[in-house]
Amino acid sequence: MSPEPAAASPSRTAVGRETVRVDGPLKVSGAARYTADFHFPDMLYAVPVCATIASGTIAAIDTKAAEAMPGVRKIYTRDTIGKFYRVPASGGGIIDERRPPFEDDTIRYYGQYIALVVADTFEQATAAAHRVETSYRTATFDVSTALSPEETPRVKTRRGDPDAAFDAAAVKIDHVYNTPIETHSSIELHASVATFDGSHFTLYETTQAVGNFRNVLAQMLGVPKENVRVVTEYLGTGFGGKLWPWPQSLLAAAAARELRQPVKLVMTRQMTFESAGHRPHTQQRVRLGATTEGKLVSLRHDYAYSRAPMSSYAENCGESSGFMYSTPNLSVSEAFATRNVGVPTSMRGPGAVPGLYALESAVDELAVALKMDPVALRLRNEPAIDESKNIPFSSRHLKECLATGAETFGWSRRTPAVGSMRENGAVLGWGVAACTWMAARWEAQVSVMFNDDGTLRVASGTQDIGTGTYTVLAQMAAELAGLDVGKIKVVIGDSSLPPGPISGGSMATASLVPAVAQATREAIRNLIATARESDSHFANVPVDRLAFHEGRVHRKDQPPGEGRRFEEVLASARLGHVEGRGKSEGTFRNKNSTVSTHSFGAHFVEVAWQPEIARLRINRTVSVIDGGRIVNPLTARNQIEGAVTMGIGMALFEETHYDHRHGMPINSNLADYIMATHADTPPMEVIFLDYPDTHLNEMGVRGIGEIGLAGVAAAITNAVYHATGVRVRDLPVKIEDLL
Ligand code: MOS
Repeated sequence: MSPEPAAASPSRTAVGRETVRVDGPLKVSGAARYTADFHFPDMLYAVPVCATIASGTIAAIDTKAAEAMPGVRKIYTRDTIGKFYRVPASGGGIIDERRPPFEDDTIRYYGQYIALVVADTFEQATAAAHRVETSYRTATFDVSTALSPEETPRVKTRRGDPDAAFDAAAVKIDHVYNTPIETHSSIELHASVATFDGSHFTLYETTQAVGNFRNVLAQMLGVPKENVRVVTEYLGTGFGGKLWPWPQSLLAAAAARELRQPVKLVMTRQMTFESAGHRPHTQQRVRLGATTEGKLVSLRHDYAYSRAPMSSYAENCGESSGFMYSTPNLSVSEAFATRNVGVPTSMRGPGAVPGLYALESAVDELAVALKMDPVALRLRNEPAIDESKNIPFSSRHLKECLATGAETFGWSRRTPAVGSMRENGAVLGWGVAACTWMAARWEAQVSVMFNDDGTLRVASGTQDIGTGTYTVLAQMAAELAGLDVGKIKVVIGDSSLPPGPISGGSMATASLVPAVAQATREAIRNLIATARESDSHFANVPVDRLAFHEGRVHRKDQPPGEGRRFEEVLASARLGHVEGRGKSEGTFRNKNSTVSTHSFGAHFVEVAWQPEIARLRINRTVSVIDGGRIVNPLTARNQIEGAVTMGIGMALFEETHYDHRHGMPINSNLADYIMATHADTPPMEVIFLDYPDTHLNEMGVRGIGEIGLAGVAAAITNAVYHATGVRVRDLPVKIEDLL
């Protein structure tokens, strides 16, 4: 093995510099192909038929009238779709709705697929889907929102004697917090364009994980995974709703296989509310006990969440409760209640986001009870180590987040009495909440190639959810090879590439670092070996006397400028490219970690309340994020701003309502499912502390996809309390709550 080449002598520092999205021009010019943009000759259109009951069985499906309609090619039901297989519980890939579509005649939620119409046009298929006649035997169903756990709660973590310590505490808080079902509302709808050539499938998909999607679809279709290729060039985001496959993709693939023509299926917005996942309802009881000086002596967090029949999804609300604050006595337990709703799934910051709404609300309530400043209360209970695991934190700067945020926000001017601050005729409320999100790596493989056209290609079977993976991959490769970002070609979004990380859990960037570094170094080694063998300029120079700097192979005893550019080296060797490969293990499933790796942050919010006209506005926010080294401050700030916007929606607007007569999600469109828009968002200040966390990778990069949402809703409801004296414990805040 030759010595480590001098790769890491970056004079350009691409990492850490504000860099505009490399895919921006393709997106704004319409050249970027999203899944529904793929068109093929002879393409057919599929539209699912959805159950109109929430529980029961199908008595009969009559497709005759629909089949006679113009353009209809085929109507599939349970009898004609062919065989689907289940995914094994371990090893087959991840899917939340494990029951293959049409597997039985039982209806478990409103909108469950019961038939599939394939026609020449989308309009014909839609019209025919409405003519399919279904009769049902209905059964009772439950979409109620009060959750009674169906089994003894499972203890997630426990230490000391939390019950006795709570009972004996001088100051106590004991409240229940509810968060409603929320539905991922990506602008890009879920879409599948399935093609089959007689043996191999190519599936153009909207997925945050092309490799997992390939594995799952191969299992369910009953073919080797080598026979399935999944392509996702661009995503109009996903928020977790596109992490794992949903049944419509399998239906499209099965239709393409049987009809031997490409089949396109684009879900309607209504369908996404019914059968493409949601964040479940949560009901969380938090008990805090403290001394009169504000030292926590007991923390109990007991939560329940709603779950669909045949789902094993768990909303891990207590994820951060065990390590967020120092306390000798603590317990966290979980339970669920089954509801006749579609299968829930991860939604941005699953578990921790609703969990921190409850915990950070309770901490604020404790501060009020103690007559103590809520920033000071948090600082007083800062732990020295992760007390849930008795291991150190890799890098925790929550105190600095709180201090910096308070300073930037002007927190010292806050007067604690409810309704005591006024400006321009409005009552001001100032609230704060802390936040955290896990930092981990997923397995990653990367290929890096020096090309004879002077470009460097970096390729991995990951994907860009829209947040900037194309750009940060280009930055990393540019940094490691000492090239301009413009010389880097990023190829992702294809399951035939070396398997890359999922775009989930805020893990993609951190996961890619070690693999990109390893691949780039190997490519440089291979380039140097090539130079020595094939380029007369370096004849007889030992490999260890050669180095690579800013695109040139050079002799270490000569300035880099006198070396040869890599494209010249490749030309001399008559090579199109040399490649290096990198591979890194994941840390996500590592239960024996010796350090606790998480991101941290603090949000400060000002609300304005005008009781005369029942108007509540968010005036401004300050967010301080301890998210490791920031690869691209520009796209990173976008992430936090987007997350704070989503947090405003979580606090004030988002809630999926189910009709208690039919079990149907009734606000299943973007007019009635209210989200925060630009008009709802105030000036947002975002500050990154930028401490590299080198336990996770050599660049010290963590991830910032989810941390920005955690805590926002609590900061807002805490501010609402400060303005109005009303403590909202059931999200979202409704104006009538405040009157
Ligand atoms: Mo995120 S919920 O891990 O896409």
